[in-house]
Amino acid sequence: MNDKTLPAALGPVLCIVGARPNFMKMAPILRAFADHEPAIPAVLVHTGQHYDKDMSDKLFEDLCLPRPDINLEVGSASHAVQTAEVMKRFEPVIDQFKPSCVLVVGDVNSTLACSLVAVKKGVPTVHVEAGLRSFDRTMPEEINRLVTDQLADRLYTTERDAEGNLVKEGIAAERVRFVGNVMIDSLLFHRDRARAPAEILAAAGVDAGLLGSDAAYGLVTLHRPSNVDEPETLGKLLAVLREISESLPLIFALHPRTRANIQRFGLSDRVATPRMVLLPPQGYLEMIGLMSSARVVLTDSGGLQEETTALGVPCLTLRENTERPITIEQGTNTLVGCDPAVIRSAAQAVLAGGGKHGRIPEFWDGQAARRIAEDLYGWLTANRAGGAA
Ligand code: UD1
Repeated sequence: MNDKTLPAALGPVLCIVGARPNFMKMAPILRAFADHEPAIPAVLVHTGQHYDKDMSDKLFEDLCLPRPDINLEVGSASHAVQTAEVMKRFEPVIDQFKPSCVLVVGDVNSTLACSLVAVKKGVPTVHVEAGLRSFDRTMPEEINRLVTDQLADRLYTTERDAEGNLVKEGIAAERVRFVGNVMIDSLLFHRDRARAPAEILAAAGVDAGLLGSDAAYGLVTLHRPSNVDEPETLGKLLAVLREISESLPLIFALHPRTRANIQRFGLSDRVATPRMVLLPPQGYLEMIGLMSSARVVLTDSGGLQEETTALGVPCLTLRENTERPITIEQGTNTLVGCDPAVIRSAAQAVLAGGGKHGRIPEFWDGQAARRIAEDLYGWLTANRAGGAA
């Protein structure tokens, strides 16, 4: 077989995105597939788990992602219903395209649902960002990670420790490749296009004078059910954020779930201060701009823990655990949980001392998607030759 040509009989790679954090992971993969010689054919499937313009369309534009070939339009529902709907609607897509493999990223419900459909139909499954573990099974994403990794035939990891997690769960090391972090590929690719915070505030009708002469601010995002679905927890977190805002103005990019719960629980007064700017979900270029210039980021997001490490910006993670330990060991991340006293003193320490500087983890170098394309091409063609696929 000539290894410079993709065998004609090899179907496309079905590339799955569903929710916001998937888009920045898939964009560099699609670019690397197109740049590979020969090009690796791909079909982009959006499950429609996230559907708002702010949560989806704007990010597609910012990331230069092509329009999805297929949109399953599942929308919001309980986890069971959302997962089941993706599965039902995705099965005919496999029949239609006869893919060489299904490629999923991250840990959202769409990741799990499409992997399960693929494996039952005998289609090889590839998981990008495999092996991350918080060891907290109350977190829906942890269940999605565990099951997806068990199902996957090829597993690409972002940090070396992830392989150890997989091997402990009985997954053969031969299936695992350490390639680096595709989310950081996107960050480095788009960094020069990031929007300036003053411009973002002006567009939102906020007086940038709020930030003071040194333009210092903290950036906040919160959306995990464990932080925002209980009135008591959310109320407590908003109260400590308000206290912090007295020393450092805060820009809060609100996830729809969090905005709805603030209203539902009658907590709007906790954020009603000119020192806290509430913005809708931000575009990708806005988010990179806001992160890059922040004095500190306070978040419960997985992606922001990694992006702040890559940018060298201190990050306080409002969770008891993280599936991304490298951001703590090597990067700028500190776990602060949801105890207001701990959060307050960690924020004060960053303001007083500047916070962690960290270093860039291995292979967070903008080349992860290229490594995936090269490895996947070799794997698919070898499988074909061996009849395994
Ligand atoms: C999902 C992912 C999470 C990821 C997050 C990023 C799972 C289990 N969770 O959580 O890992 O970090 O996305 O945002 O897959 N909603 C809208 N508009 C939208 C999307 C959602 O208003 O475009 C609202 C709906 O009220 C919905 C709620 O947000 O019920 C939650 O959406 P869902 O996709 O279920 O989970 P996320 O909390 O966004």
